[in-house]
Amino acid sequence: MSGTSLDGIDAALVDLSGGKPKLVGTHFQAYQPDLKDTLLALHHPSLNELHQAHITANSLAREYAVAIHSLLNNTGVAAGQVQAIGCHGQTVRHRPEHGYTIQLNNAALLAELTGIHVVSDFRSRDIAAGGQGAPLVPAFHENVLRHPDVHRIILNIGGIANLTDLPRNGITTGFDTGPGNLLMDAWIAKHLNKPYDKDGTWAASGKIIPSLLKQLLAESFFIQSPPKSTGRDLFNLAWLEKHLNENEAPADVQATLLALTCDSIANAVQRFCNGSKEIYLCGGGAHNAALVSRLQQALPQCLIQKTEALGIEADWMEAIAFAWLAQQTMHLRPGNLPAVTGASHNCVLGAIYPGY
Ligand SMILES: Nc1ncnc2c1ncn2[C@@H]1O[C@H](COP(=O)(O)OP(=O)(O)OP(=O)(O)O)[C@@H](O)[C@H]1O
Ligand SMILES: [Mg+2]
Repeated sequence: MSGTSLDGIDAALVDLSGGKPKLVGTHFQAYQPDLKDTLLALHHPSLNELHQAHITANSLAREYAVAIHSLLNNTGVAAGQVQAIGCHGQTVRHRPEHGYTIQLNNAALLAELTGIHVVSDFRSRDIAAGGQGAPLVPAFHENVLRHPDVHRIILNIGGIANLTDLPRNGITTGFDTGPGNLLMDAWIAKHLNKPYDKDGTWAASGKIIPSLLKQLLAESFFIQSPPKSTGRDLFNLAWLEKHLNENEAPADVQATLLALTCDSIANAVQRFCNGSKEIYLCGGGAHNAALVSRLQQALPQCLIQKTEALGIEADWMEAIAFAWLAQQTMHLRPGNLPAVTGASHNCVLGAIYPGY
């Protein structure tokens, strides 16, 4: 898994032979700054971008292969024992309204370099069936984490934040709530040259600017009803800077961005997940103490804890989910939930690149 934060690659070796997924080993491989810069640049139109996109996809596939070989070395598992690699690729455009989404990857090269079957391009089929192509993790959450007696939410705070609503009975729903970490990451990178605001301490040192927060929360995405999904296409520095008057203290803007992530999530929970009692956090934002504390204040009716409480490590949830989605595809079983994405039917997701 390589998500919208552009922090790097989460490689997880997962045993799905039993009921609950078992995490056999993990390996995180950070992106080099120049790869991150190239990926960020590819989010915008530029000269010769087709060529640049394919060259970058090749680099990514090589990085994925290195990550997989490290994971296998660390765990002592041979490539021949692995059923398949589920490889999400790196999103550079997400435009379901135009009928496409682009996750850069060269899955053929990854299959060539590893000798393992590769499942990739998970999102396109759902979009072809009229869906958003996102989020895709809710089917996994429903399968593994739903409880008949407790109304739960699984909340992933990655670059973008997305939630899965698992009521006691009735259908599972889910959607993107808006920015997770990506605006806070971009702002601290610009002002303090750091990749992220560890534990939200810089944000906690500033004061929320109420008028700015109100303006940001007025973005129509937050008001829309699901199905909905988003990405850097909408939430980026240019979007933020449109709303600034440049007299703001940078730490106060960071405080406001943290409040934006938190309040957009809390509003979505109040509006669309009526009666929820428990929220389980995953993704890097689950480590942001200032964010979690504000979220708990905003949602006093919900007990908020990390997904470790359910036996799944918060940092590895997304990667485990894509292993599960790859297994669905290998068995030609569907991986989307039409009630989540808006697709017209359940689809077998992705394409299989054989490892021979
Ligand atoms: N201790 C921490 N304090 C604050 N933020 C943190 C901390 N640790 C990680 N993060 C945030 O988490 C981000 C990485 O999260 P994660 O890998 O879940 O996102 P992602 O790659 O976008 O994944 P996905 O798209 O699958 O949700 C970092 O960019 C950073 O903003
Ligand atoms: Mg990540």
